[in-house]
Amino acid sequence: MNIVLTGGSGFIGSHLSKELLKDSENKLIVVDNLLTGNLDNIQNLLDHENATFIQHDVQDHIEINEKVDYVFHLASAASPVAYTENPVNTLKAGSLGTINTLGLARKHNAEYFLASTSEVYGDPLITPQNEEYWGNVNPNGERSMYDEAKRFAEAATATYARSYNIKAKIIRIFNTYGPNMQLNDGRVVTNLIVQALNDEDLTIYGDGSQTRSFSYVSDTVAGILAMMKSDHYEVFNIGNPYEMTVKELAETILKLTSSKSKIIYKPLPNDDPQQRRPDITKAKEKLNWEPKIDLETGLNTTIDWIKQELSK
Ligand SMILES: NC(=O)c1ccc[n+]([C@@H]2O[C@H](COP(=O)([O-])OP(=O)(O)OC[C@H]3O[C@@H](n4cnc5c(N)ncnc54)[C@H](O)[C@@H]3O)[C@@H](O)[C@H]2O)c1
Repeated sequence: MNIVLTGGSGFIGSHLSKELLKDSENKLIVVDNLLTGNLDNIQNLLDHENATFIQHDVQDHIEINEKVDYVFHLASAASPVAYTENPVNTLKAGSLGTINTLGLARKHNAEYFLASTSEVYGDPLITPQNEEYWGNVNPNGERSMYDEAKRFAEAATATYARSYNIKAKIIRIFNTYGPNMQLNDGRVVTNLIVQALNDEDLTIYGDGSQTRSFSYVSDTVAGILAMMKSDHYEVFNIGNPYEMTVKELAETILKLTSSKSKIIYKPLPNDDPQQRRPDITKAKEKLNWEPKIDLETGLNTTIDWIKQELSK
């Protein structure tokens, strides 16, 4: 299978590309502008005979001259720090980038995968969130370059699928963590671990009562691969339904790192959701997938990786 993967040098993309290359029948073409990605994440791929790396921005037309069977569109800044620093590129990766990658799938009659996000639910009014929920999103708020671009991306995917008979699947990814995340991009898991390991105060935004559900990256990638194998051309939530408050997360990290750091509180950013928890009933029933890695196991692996990174 010839697979085009945009965003393949980023956090999730680097793990997905490694899994895809385990099958010697697969040929992988990674398209990435290195905005938030890193070639260190994909050293295995750069040396691999079945892989090609193309440095390219998905907001510009994408031409691939060989046969393409699958297109995975993951390219987008994904953390609040990254999309706030790159607002227009984020808006275009979700909008023009989705149209360009859908055009590529159309031209090659390829199957299409959109990496959408739990952010399409905004600050949800129901919990847990299932795929039928339409969300509660500020259309022009400070996160809109990301969450509204992803909502547009879903609309574009559904429209191309209906209009041009493209076989398309939409993956609503919930908070995912693990090795290869950027250490300075402000995501809560890396932020708190880096602070704990450096004996700095752990920063919680708000009073810490907001909840999140964290999926270890191997579980998220297994969910994406289960979608790839299935013939359900639909929207699936992929995440871990185990919900905890941000304060509980900080306390768990203090325990696992044996850190003496204190927790301090800062004002909550605008439009920060109060709760996030996926309803994964549909993925369990139709994909036979559910997460396997518990929080402490995933955090311990991530802490070990961050220790290595900090010592470099
Ligand atoms: N990590 C999560 O918790 C999470 C949650 C929900 C959705 N997602 C989605 O999954 C995808 C991957 O997220 P991630 O956490 O790996 O983020 P990441 O920032 O680590 O990876 C994104 C990759 O896309 C590349 N990229 C960004 N803009 C681009 C552009 N205009 N053209 C080409 N390449 C571009 C970056 O260089 C990077 O390699 C994103 O689409 C994100 O919205 C992630």
